[in-house]
Amino acid sequence: MTTTTLKHIPRHIGIVMDGNGRWAKARRRPRSFGHNAGRKAVREVVEGCIRQGVEALTLFAFSSENWQRPPDEVGALLELFMLALDKEVDELDQNGVRLRFIGDLSAFDKALHKRMVEAAKRTAGNTKLQLNIAVNYGGRWDVVQAARQAAMAVARGELAVDAIDEAAFERWTSLAEVPPLDLFIRTGGDHRISNFLLWQLAYAELYFTETLWPDFNQTSLQLAINDFARRERRFGRTGDQVAQAAAR
Ligand code: FPP
Repeated sequence: MTTTTLKHIPRHIGIVMDGNGRWAKARRRPRSFGHNAGRKAVREVVEGCIRQGVEALTLFAFSSENWQRPPDEVGALLELFMLALDKEVDELDQNGVRLRFIGDLSAFDKALHKRMVEAAKRTAGNTKLQLNIAVNYGGRWDVVQAARQAAMAVARGELAVDAIDEAAFERWTSLAEVPPLDLFIRTGGDHRISNFLLWQLAYAELYFTETLWPDFNQTSLQLAINDFARRERRFGRTGDQVAQAAAR
């Protein structure tokens, strides 16, 4: 792969995997059938990211708000996560994937919590792709928990209030030390952020597709990356400044 190609590959992709329910409904099957089918799409994007040289992938699997869904759907989703942890971790590990869970994990039952922690520990040394699964996660929650940690450091006398700048604050967020989020993808046709990575989305490119999550595959990922590669990212500068910097 040439350096020119690499320049257009997002280092970090975040995905809101939407549309499982509608995919199942179109097949007259329960919503859980759609979530289960969504697992295949997860495998597809993980493989696609490894092939393309994407460094980090963050998937929104269960939001803080998803607890409000019917109890049987919540139960089916939690069971699916447990099953996925049992079935997929070996292969992820063999493929060099470092798996992490972000969100308030204390809300999950002990067995699931333990499996998440174990999977993270087991894959901690892998470097091919960093896969972050957001569960019981909310972007506002993340900002608030980071603010709490900053306040506690000040209260302990370890930190001056003036020392809290953007870089320092970021170190308390769930994705500290993960490359900046370059590309946000949402499947399922809606154009919303839905309380996903609010802090990290500041300069991400946004990509929305009608494709329902279970139908999302490596070709869909390639289309999103191609679209990203065509964007001019100015980070507050003018187009001329960006062109001059690129010519240097
Ligand atoms: C949103 O679709 C999807 C979810 C709330 C769950 C996402 C879970 C998976 C893709 C399962 C596999 C994930 C892992 C990490 C093993 P929706 O139910 O809101 O769909 P709708 O908008 O069509 O109703």
